[in-house]
Amino acid sequence: MTDVGIDAAEFRSGKLKLDLAETFADEKDDDPAKYTKGLGLHASSFPDAYEDIVTMAANAAKRLMDRKGLAPEDIGRIDVATESAFDHSKPVSTYVAGCLEQVYDGDFHHANKGERKFACIAGTQSIDDAVNWIAAGKNRGRAALVIATDTALYERGDPGEATQGAGAVAMLIDEDPDLTVIEPEQGFGSADETDFLKPNQQFPSVDGKRSMQVYLMRMREALEDFEMQTPTHPDDFALVPFHTPFPGMVRKAAALGYRHVARDTDVEEELAEEIGRQPRPEAFDDEEAYRDALKEYTDKLTETDLYSEWYSRTIEPTLEVSAQVGNWYTGSVHVARIGGLKHARENGIDLDNEQLLVCSYGSGAQAEIHAETVQPGWEDEIAALNIDDQLVERYDISWEQYEQIHDVHNHDESTDIDAYTTPEGEFVFDGWGRMGERK
Ligand code: HMG
Repeated sequence: MTDVGIDAAEFRSGKLKLDLAETFADEKDDDPAKYTKGLGLHASSFPDAYEDIVTMAANAAKRLMDRKGLAPEDIGRIDVATESAFDHSKPVSTYVAGCLEQVYDGDFHHANKGERKFACIAGTQSIDDAVNWIAAGKNRGRAALVIATDTALYERGDPGEATQGAGAVAMLIDEDPDLTVIEPEQGFGSADETDFLKPNQQFPSVDGKRSMQVYLMRMREALEDFEMQTPTHPDDFALVPFHTPFPGMVRKAAALGYRHVARDTDVEEELAEEIGRQPRPEAFDDEEAYRDALKEYTDKLTETDLYSEWYSRTIEPTLEVSAQVGNWYTGSVHVARIGGLKHARENGIDLDNEQLLVCSYGSGAQAEIHAETVQPGWEDEIAALNIDDQLVERYDISWEQYEQIHDVHNHDESTDIDAYTTPEGEFVFDGWGRMGERK
């Protein structure tokens, strides 16, 4: 079978920035280290008054299509993954296609469009759908456009407020890709959970502490499922991008990932001499005793040099961009992948044909693990991104400005819309349910 995967990606951040160490911590009268060290976050991206999930998605897709020299007829499928949709009927992809058709000669009339929903994991699920569509030979030589776009806002005063963010990641899924090939093996952990949900409401109802436990439980199940199909070793993976609601969450999940990829390997043997053997479920009468033993093992594991070296090599690089932009929900794990590759390029690390272990998660709840093989074109693809420019150019909002922009994005039509930046050759929001206009 031909290799299928991510040919190119584009990153589009909301144009405003809320500084957590200064503005947010100051207003909450908190130690800034709670955010920068505890959660591992420095800033959140916010959409300006003329940005929304459609404009961010369309602006990312436009840059992607221009860079790859694509016309609408080259795209046979557009899937948008989001949990911030404002329309219960018309998928966001139709609004995005409408925007793009304003600026290209052709149209997307023969493209299959849809919207994918399963909290933050929907972006990965859309990639999966696109890969399957191509692998099934239904694409007629065309590529798929997958866009993960969200305005991840919480109610003001909710503990989740520190982890907000907004942005879009557009990805081109194609045969013989330039960035990564998606490998076929997958591991899943999935269960009906109610720790994070938005039933007919703008902001999520969230039990933050429980949501962290659910993330870890589903991730553990997915890793177990993956491991049953493919033997793994810590040295197999150059980068391990996780769904990153905030880097502190990944710090907890990474130890879990390491335990799994190191099971039944020489690394586990080496660790056994220092901290004992990793507990196995069959050795315990009940789940609680097993969990306690695992916790004890993990605490010792994270103190070892072997683990620290692996963490700084495979995890830390994936958190660099995420720490500056906050949680982008469906885009989050894709920001982590891009961030890790960007770090490698800037530090002269050769990733040709290296493997990534991609660990996606969505509340509700489901985790999915798969591997990707980095393609020789990756460096040029990553060099073409303008992430640093976008981050530096964000307008730094004061607390009062933050409150106003938060109201604007609460789908409140009565709020006066006051933008802090000026649109420059981009799609802008011109009313709920209407298509973005290029200004
Ligand atoms: P909180 O309760 O305000 O924070 O909110 P905290 O008191 O637990 O402190 C956070 C960390 O900072 C802790 O670290 C503190 O110790 C540390 P930990 O003990 O956990 O390692 N800390 C400090 N460190 C250094 N110096 C200090 C200091 N003070 C404290 N001075 C919470 C945290 C995550 C609950 C909140 O932000 C929240 O509710 N977030 C939203 C939910 C969320 O992101 N959950 C993550 C898992 S679920 C998920 O990822 C899915 C999601 O993306 C949605 C989807 O799938 O659609 C959310």
